Amino acid sequence: MPRVFSYQEFETGSEKVRQYADKHSPVIMCDSEAVRNMPFRVKVKIGKNVKHPNAPDHHYEYIQLWNLETLVGEAKIQRSSFGDDPVHIEADFLLIPKISLRLTAVAYCNKHGLWRSEELFVPIKDE
Ligand SMILES: [Fe+2]
Repeated sequence: MPRVFSYQEFETGSEKVRQYADKHSPVIMCDSEAVRNMPFRVKVKIGKNVKHPNAPDHHYEYIQLWNLETLVGEAKIQRSSFGDDPVHIEADFLLIPKISLRLTAVAYCNKHGLWRSEELFVPIKDE
């Protein structure tokens, strides 16, 4: 089983270490609650503040969105579509939830491995 890194492991490090962790960490962005059986959009962005390199030998290859142990979706990244400069890679997912969500994003940098977001609880309400 590969190690899966998270920003929290590095947040007490130096500024350089925290920037390294920031540019690798997926961040989940969505509304704070969902409506049962209605489309619910979730964006995953790599790096809250710091852009990650997007070079042929160093880039992100995919972003996954998990609801607990269920893989909800996966976006494969075509690196060259985002140019050669550092970038915040993003992926959008559309869910139709039936129950509350416990979302985690996982993303893979070909040089620095697997990184996960914080788990995000999204309560569900009836319309
Ligand atoms: Fe990297």
